[in-house]
Amino acid sequence: MIVNSTNDVRSAVEAGETFVIYNGDCRDLLGSAPTEYFDFTLTSPPYFMGKEYDRSYKLSDFIADHQEIAPAIAQLTKTGGNIAWQVGHHVKNGVDVPLDFPTYQAFSAIENLILHNRIVWTFGHGAHATKRFSGRHETILWFSKGNDYYFDLDAARVPQKYRGKTFYKGPNKGQLSSNPNGKNPGDVWDIPNVKANHVEKTAHPCQFPVALAQRLIRALCPIGGLVFDPFSGSGSTGIAAALDGRRFVGADISAEYCNIAQKRYELLLAQKLQVRPLDKPVLEPNPRSKVARFPELQAVLEG
Ligand SMILES: C[S@@+](CC[C@H](N)C(=O)[O-])C[C@H]1O[C@@H](n2cnc3c(N)ncnc32)[C@H](O)[C@@H]1O
Repeated sequence: MIVNSTNDVRSAVEAGETFVIYNGDCRDLLGSAPTEYFDFTLTSPPYFMGKEYDRSYKLSDFIADHQEIAPAIAQLTKTGGNIAWQVGHHVKNGVDVPLDFPTYQAFSAIENLILHNRIVWTFGHGAHATKRFSGRHETILWFSKGNDYYFDLDAARVPQKYRGKTFYKGPNKGQLSSNPNGKNPGDVWDIPNVKANHVEKTAHPCQFPVALAQRLIRALCPIGGLVFDPFSGSGSTGIAAALDGRRFVGADISAEYCNIAQKRYELLLAQKLQVRPLDKPVLEPNPRSKVARFPELQAVLEG
């Protein structure tokens, strides 16, 4: 459900609502929610890159916002809970500032927040640069609150490359040499980004894929836990939470995006929402596929 007052967020959660979006400035919510409320915060904030929802094109505004928001997020996170902040790059006049730099500065300055991973999210599509290499990754910084934190690696395992491989010598000869439940996914994740022909694409200009949120939620939030996304946009974090049995509180300043998120949730309940499965293989280019005669056409084919 969508609510317009911060008090209604808490009442809705206490009444057992599992998908609640506050339509307003997340800073109102940060100032009013009880401390130690959320199990896991996952978000992708505005990058201040001239999108319709960015209030400026200034890196200094990103930095100022994060200095303000980070302590509040830490306060709202339960001890032993987690925070994952997904950011890209601020590029202006050809100068690239990776936004995880100021994000790290803001969060690591808070006592008791511990960085565990800087995850590189890589994807195949995006703008084609001509004066530098085309950007094909963004990052996720994962912090826990305290050192005794929730982490379910088994929930995030991926298939082993060689299933059933055994030790060929030594005392363990003949026994399985790798975990039959799969391997640790590592800290470089290749997950298709949401471009025009992605099944999850909505009118939101900057969605992240549900699969990205699912891997994080499965590993970093207990089943039934409360997930928070202060910049929830089209609700991808909430959809991932709902798919995997977690509760969700989002916030977005745009009524249009809140409505998109709510609509996606209703489609999910009606089993009509299309989501790209996390375990669906990424399409690799086929070297034997036909090469277009014209380079312009080739670029279009490669998306
Ligand atoms: C990068 S997008 C998030 C996209 C989201 N992860 C998804 O998959 O759809 C950032 C969002 O922050 C929202 N936003 C910007 N300033 C805000 C504020 N002060 N409070 C709440 N939301 C805000 C924008 O409307 C935008 O939808």
